[in-house]
Parts: sequence; structure tokens; C-alpha cells
Amino acid sequence: MIESTGYQSGFANEFATEGVAGALPVGRNSPQKVAHGLYAEQVSGTAFTAPRRENRRSWLYRMRPAAMHGTFAPFAQPNFHNDFDNGPITPDQLRWSPLPLPAAPTDFIEGLFTMAGNGSPAGQHGVGIHLYAANRDMDGRYFYDADGELLIVPQQGRLHIETELGVLDVAPQEIAIVPRGIRFRVALPDGASRGYVCENFGALMRLPDLGPIGSNGLANPRDFLTPNAAYEDREGDFELIAKFQGHLWRASIGHSPLDVVAWHGNYAPCKYDLRHFNTIGSISYDHPDPSIFTVLTSPSDTPGTANLDFVVFPPRWLVAQDTFRPPWFHRNVASEFMGLVTGVYDAKAEGFAPGGASLHNCMSGHGPDAATFDKASNADLSKPDVIKDTMAFMFETRAVIRPTAQAIDAAHRQRDYQDCWKGLKKHFVSPR
Ligand SMILES: [Fe+2]
Repeated sequence: MIESTGYQSGFANEFATEGVAGALPVGRNSPQKVAHGLYAEQVSGTAFTAPRRENRRSWLYRMRPAAMHGTFAPFAQPNFHNDFDNGPITPDQLRWSPLPLPAAPTDFIEGLFTMAGNGSPAGQHGVGIHLYAANRDMDGRYFYDADGELLIVPQQGRLHIETELGVLDVAPQEIAIVPRGIRFRVALPDGASRGYVCENFGALMRLPDLGPIGSNGLANPRDFLTPNAAYEDREGDFELIAKFQGHLWRASIGHSPLDVVAWHGNYAPCKYDLRHFNTIGSISYDHPDPSIFTVLTSPSDTPGTANLDFVVFPPRWLVAQDTFRPPWFHRNVASEFMGLVTGVYDAKAEGFAPGGASLHNCMSGHGPDAATFDKASNADLSKPDVIKDTMAFMFETRAVIRPTAQAIDAAHRQRDYQDCWKGLKKHFVSPR
């Protein structure tokens, strides 16, 4: 087990950290000989020639180069993939109960279950949306995802994520981001654990522009925490699992790949506590669009139209006057996959449980259920409402989110979801 050595504050800053004094070269990236006999290796997360403001790379000083491992062979974990064409791709509103926790010993990789997605790693756009349910540490097993950066949203149980660049200890209501290609191992300090993973094939996630909001607000950069260097010097009969072009591969490796003693750069894992999100809303009437809740965004080639927005619905006050206060009924050209970390989501009276999920695809109507509509339509607006103890979130994408066949067929899919709108009455009486 590698213990955390603490964090550096900021989002994609030019970080520098060393686990052994003097390991980090001064004044150059790849000196003829690196101190302590380490190897210098660059990991590039954007094209070499990406504009400076978007360019992301880090220099790693490690015991052995990442090239050292056996040959890869397919690794059978049939529930984790990017096969988004096996459908059916229905326009129905979809909802699932939480993924059941496993009975058999299951680690983080074995416990991944692909729900939906769009685009592809080959096309370098789109997302894969997965759940995980696991109960044991990855033992002698290390993983990297060459297909996308990983946004991990734990719902039950903490994650101890040992990465090449340091350790992330992440609890529910926090998120972790592991960049594409960075090797890591997950341990489960609380045993049985569950959560959500969004795999971003597109442009790296970044903080949204704030426009008239100004220079502060939403997710503040200093609340993102990137680990200090931490390493293990360990040899043995281990395995390296790679996700590459939609499927898993396995190679033997005779040492821990978590052997980076020092590193510098702006391509690194980080974590963020969603409770630090500065929630902004109306203090007069109506709602802003839910984009006001954007934590991170992966832009597409079309300005203002994201490959992925990660949006949270945290505790907040509702004070708008002459306003239907819950999220309104709507249809959206974008597609919305929602999850719930804790508490209750204010548009649904029941059925959307922590650990559950819903999918409302392009132009599929949705909104509050009948019970929520009746309550909110008759609420006393002279008093503010406060929504406490909740943390819902959304992965919103410009492209349709295509459910996998295993998600459609899953026992935990709520086949009666549409019934939640059945009780909405027609109140209109035509004067003609
Ligand atoms: Fe929606």
C-alpha cells in the first residue's frame, strides 16, 4: 500500500513534486543522467503542437520506463467495453436501480459495468458511461485507460487510488480524475463500494468559462487537489491491464509501474470535493438553464456545444418568486445521464435512489413526476425552500447516449419508469 503524501492545489497547474530530495532535474527535462539513476519519460495528454493554453504533458522520473512489460493478450471482462451499437437505441426514458453489490470477490476492474456511451476511442470524441460495484482491492494488478480520461464518482465507499503520479484518497461526494494513460491501482478501504465512471474520449475536461459571472464561482480552481509524488519499489509477478480501442488487454509485468519518484507538469490526476461547488441560481424568478451547475466541460469542435459537461445538483436554496421551483419539464437536443450520490433529487418523489441512474436522450420529454408537480404547484412561495443532504449529477453530451444491450436487459432496470408521469392530469378546459 502506498500512503498519500499530500496534495498540491490548483487545476492543471504546472506542478512539480519529488518523493526523494534532488530527484527532480533543475533547468532541463531530460539531462544526460537523471539523479538517483532514474529514467526520464514524458507523457503527453494533448498533441505536441496543441496551443499553449490547452497543452498538457508531464515529465516523469522513474525507476524503469513504461515500455517494460510483456506482450498484451485479450483480457476477458465482458461487462466493460465501448460497444454502443448493440442496443436497442430506444427513445424511451430509462431508469435503473442501483447496481447490486457483488457476492463473489470482485475488484474495481472486474466490477465495471458499461451502461451507455457515444462516439468512440478511435474517433476521439464521445464518452463511455460505466458503473462499478466491487468489494476487494486490485491485488498485483495495475490498470490504464488509453481510450479516455476517467471521471470517477464514488457513491458508496472510499477509493484509495494509487497512481503513477501519487495517491488520491476519494470519498463519496468527491470526484477523481485520472488522465488517459496514467497507470493506477484501486484499493477499497471500506470494502463493498459502488459508483459511476465517465470515460471521456474527447478533449480533456477543463473548467468552464464564467462570462458575466466573473472571476470566481462554480468550481474554484484552488479546490482541485493533485497528489504529491509517491511511489513503490516492488518487484513480483504482476499484471498490467490496458483498455485500448474499446476492450481490455493483459500483459505480465515484473515490477510495480507505480515507480515514479518525481514528476513535473500539468497532466496529472486530481480530486475535487463537490461540496465546495459554488452554486449559483436565480434570486428573482425562473431558473437559469442547468448549465449554471457545470463543474467541468470537455469541449467539442463546435463552440458552446460540449462533448461532455459534468454537472452537479448540490444542496441549495430555492427562492424564486412566481416560479415553479423544481427543474422544469423539458426536451433537450443534448442527452442526459443522471446519477445520485446521496439524498433525494428534487424533481422526483421516489424511484431515483442513490447509486441509481436515469437516461433522457435527445428530445425525449422528461421532468418532475406527478407527486412533485402537485406539491411544487401549490407550495407557499413566500418562504424559501432549502434542499439539504443531496448530491445529484449529470453527464450531458451533445450526441445521443446509446444504452448497451446489457443495460437494457439488466434486472435492475426499472421497466415501469414512465409510469411516474402517468398521474399528471389535464387541467385545461377549453372555453370553446
Ligand atoms: Fe433534463
